[in-house]
Amino acid sequence: MLSGDIQNNKLHLIGKLTASLIHEIRNPLSVIKLNLDLVKMEDDISEYVLESVNDSLSATNRIEYMVDSLLSFSRVVSHGKENLSLNLISENAIELLVVKASKYGVKITTEFDENIGQIYADKNKLLQILLNLVTNAIESCDENSCGKIVIRTTASEENGNKKIHWIVKDNGIGISKEDNDKIFEDFYTSKENGTGLGLSVCKMLVKEQDAEIEFESEAGVGTTFTITFDTNRMRELYETENFNNR
Ligand SMILES: Nc1ncnc2c1ncn2[C@@H]1O[C@H](COP(=O)(O)OP(=O)(O)OP(=O)(O)O)[C@@H](O)[C@H]1O
Ligand SMILES: [Mg+2]
Repeated sequence: MLSGDIQNNKLHLIGKLTASLIHEIRNPLSVIKLNLDLVKMEDDISEYVLESVNDSLSATNRIEYMVDSLLSFSRVVSHGKENLSLNLISENAIELLVVKASKYGVKITTEFDENIGQIYADKNKLLQILLNLVTNAIESCDENSCGKIVIRTTASEENGNKKIHWIVKDNGIGISKEDNDKIFEDFYTSKENGTGLGLSVCKMLVKEQDAEIEFESEAGVGTTFTITFDTNRMRELYETENFNNR
C-alpha cells in the first residue's frame, strides 16, 4: 500500500471516530444545559449561584458551538460533480446568511457576470466554501461600522485559456502581514469562539475542485478572497469523467 493511501485511510478513520464522538458528546451536553436552565428557574437562588450557573451555561454553549462546527466539517457530503452556475450558488449562500449578516449590520451585494458560463464542480462543496468565506467576511466587520460585502463573478483570458474567478470582498478589519501564513493552518483562530477550521476546510475543498484560492488583505481596510477555476482543466475533467462513466 502506498503511504498516501495509508494516510487517506487514517484520515477516513479519524473522520468516522470524530463523527461518532461528536454524537456521543451532544446528548449528555443537552442534559447538562437543561438542568442548568432548571436551576436558574428556582425562586430563592442566590446571586453567587446564579453567576456560576450562567458561567456554566456559556461554557456549555461554547462546547456546543465547537461540536456543531466539527460536525458540519465532517458532514460535507458529496453528490459528485455537475455543471453549475456560480451566480445561483452565491444567491443560495446569501439566503442562508441573511440573518447573521443583519445581526452584524452587514450589507451583502452581488456583481455577477451574467455570461460567465457554467462550471463543472460539486454543488455542496462549493456552497460550503462560500459559506465559510462569507461567514468570515461578516465576522470581520465591526458591528458599529457599516460592513459591506461584495460577491463577484468574473472571467479573464490568457493565451486563449478562460479562467473564472469567484470573489468575496469585505471592508472588515483585514489580516495583518504576520498572520498571512497562519490563516489556512488547522485550528488557527483569532476569535474567542472560533475553531480555526473554516479556511482549512475551504482550502481542502477548493483543491478537490481543481481550483485555486488566494487572498489579498490590508489591516484596517479589508480582505478579498478569490477562487479561480481553469476552464480548460474543467473541460478535461468533464470529458474524462463522463467518458469513463459511459
Ligand atoms: N475575511 C477575513 N477578514 C479578516 N480576518 C479573516 C478573514 N477570514 C479569515 N480571517 C482570519 O483567519 C482566521 C482563520 O479563519 P477560519 O475560518 O479558518 O477560522 P475561524 O473563522 O477563526 O473559526 P471558524 O471558521 O472555525 O468558526 C480567523 O480567525 C481570522 O483571524
Ligand atoms: Mg471561519
